[in-house]
Amino acid sequence: MKFFVDTANLREIQEAVELGVLDGVTTNPSLMAKEGIKGTDAVMRHYRQICEMVEGDVSAEVIATDFDGIIREGEALAELHPNIVVKVPMIRDGVKAIRYFADKGIKTNCTLIFTAGQALLAAKAGATYVSPFVGRLDDIGHDGLQLVQQIVDIFSNYGYPTQVLAASVRHVPHLIQCAELGADVVTCPLSVITGLLHHPLTDKGLATFLADHKRVNA
Ligand code: G3P
Repeated sequence: MKFFVDTANLREIQEAVELGVLDGVTTNPSLMAKEGIKGTDAVMRHYRQICEMVEGDVSAEVIATDFDGIIREGEALAELHPNIVVKVPMIRDGVKAIRYFADKGIKTNCTLIFTAGQALLAAKAGATYVSPFVGRLDDIGHDGLQLVQQIVDIFSNYGYPTQVLAASVRHVPHLIQCAELGADVVTCPLSVITGLLHHPLTDKGLATFLADHKRVNA
């Protein structure tokens, strides 16, 4: 399973790179706004910086919602770096744009997926990734992980090459269950990835080992 960090924060991305387990980055307009990045030039510079830091796919989202605008923005983003994946919302013109990008060999991530039908449509259009939002479905009393399961099963039934990128992954159990279900990728804050490190028995065991070593070598 690939690990992506879901952030536009360069410090957090650098920390994830240094951990040695990072496969890519996803961003969205909210995450860019959180970093205070405004204006097309600054946005493009920021994406280029992220691509230079990470060996792996970097999802950069279009703002346009009409076909021509999505194509214009997506092509400009794709020209920035070979690792850019154009992130396109699940809307009618988005699906048409995904087909256009697929035919041109430009990678896409279809975002804001909340049903298996939306994922199927994006896969049919040739999306590289689909992003079901696990946590946001949980937020409204649905089961986000059940959606991941459905999409994994459907893609496996037909051998679709589209990868299931579980997004809005909020905590360690989400991540582990996505792995059990066979999601190709999870994207989450770095804290969820580093959350995998911890167990109280690991801490207790290490403290005992070090104390015993110190006692014998005193
Ligand atoms: O990748 C999508 C993600 O940024 C949404 O996460 O926690 O805002 O639902 P969240």
